[in-house]
Order: sequence, then C-alpha cells, then structure tokens
Amino acid sequence: MKKIVVLVSGGGTNLQALIDAQESGKIKNGKITCVISSKPGVYALERAKNHNIPTRVLCRKDYEDIASYSKAMVQVLKEEEADLVVYAGFMTILDESVCNAFPNKMMNVHPALIPSFCGKGFYGLHVHEAALEKGVKLTGATVHFVTEVCDGGPIILQKAVPVENSDTPETLQKRVMEQAEWQILPQAVALFCDDRITVENGKAIVR
Ligand code: GAR
Repeated sequence: MKKIVVLVSGGGTNLQALIDAQESGKIKNGKITCVISSKPGVYALERAKNHNIPTRVLCRKDYEDIASYSKAMVQVLKEEEADLVVYAGFMTILDESVCNAFPNKMMNVHPALIPSFCGKGFYGLHVHEAALEKGVKLTGATVHFVTEVCDGGPIILQKAVPVENSDTPETLQKRVMEQAEWQILPQAVALFCDDRITVENGKAIVR
C-alpha cells in the first residue's frame, strides 16, 4: 500500500476528490496518510480531519526563504515516508531539492491544458482569466510530475473542457474542476499506485 501525502493551501476540493476516490475504492493500492498545508486555518485541513486523516501545517511564513522552507518540507515528507506526494491546490513554490528527493514521485494538478496558460504567475483563477482573455474555445486540466521547471514536468493525464461565450473566470474554473480536475487527479493517483506510469526520455507513459 503506497503512502500518499497531499499538499494543500486552500479550499481543498481536489483533496476531497482524492478522499472520495479512496473511500469508493477507486484508489486500490494507496492510502492518504497525511495532508500538509502551507497555511493554517484552510478548509482543506477540515476536510482531512473530517475523514480522520492526519494533518500537519508547514507555514511558509515561518521560513526566511524558499530554500529553508524546501529543506523543512523534504524532512517532513521523509518523516511521513511518502511514496507519492500530490500537489492539490498547493500554491507555494518549492525548490529543486524537493523534486530531486522524490523524482517522479510528486504530481501536480494544473487547471489548463499544458503547455498553455502555465508557468510562473499562472495559478488559480488567473489561469482562467488568461484563457478567457485569449478566447480559446477549449481549455481543461493537466496532471503532471513535478520537476524543477514550473509546470514543465512529464504530462500524465489531460482532459479538455469547452469554453462558453458567457463564461466568467469563476464559471470556467468550476467547469474545469468538475469536468476535468476532480476526475483526472484521482485517476492519475490510482494509476501511480498500481505502478502503471513510467517515465521514459522525459515523457510519462501510462500503461
Ligand atoms: C485548483 O483549480 C488547482 O488546479 C489550482 O488551484 C485550485 C485549487 O483548488 N492549482 C493551481 O493553479 C496550481 N498551479 P482546491 O484547493 O479546491 O483543490
């Protein structure tokens, strides 16, 4: 049984999708053993507590810089004996020491079809604002392995979602979450736990 550690910073609807998938038996070979938040008081922590999942808070503000925060994060992830680390709306930048400690063992869900609308500054609602500004007719979500390049690691799963003329960033975010993120994140976690993802020549292959 793989130990899954989920990193959060906010409302935690993607964490909820993972909890629901675990409870309905869709994640057969893994278990969420810890939820770590970069901020105290976020609703994601309540979601974990409601399902008796241990939580920890590693507050970004308690650390001087990204390097010292990253070092503390590696230590906590090692203490938790994480087999898989999932960024589920985790909005804090970590340096390469973290992904080097867990190569191809950290995944992130991003609310766009990478390589569109990704990289520095593209997070949360900003991603959907940019998609509407450009006038794309399809957007979606991507689950990818985390590397030192922001949103640049091997792509595991993607799902497209239509954009409607009447969309606001908020309505588009909701549709992308419901129709893409909450589906492909649990799917990718289940595939990982079943040892069905390999990385070859920088590309993720799902079997
Ligand atoms: C989600 O849409 C997630 O894809 C996005 O933030 C939201 C968090 O919601 N993540 C990023 O933009 C990361 N670059 P949640 O806390 O309800 O899961």
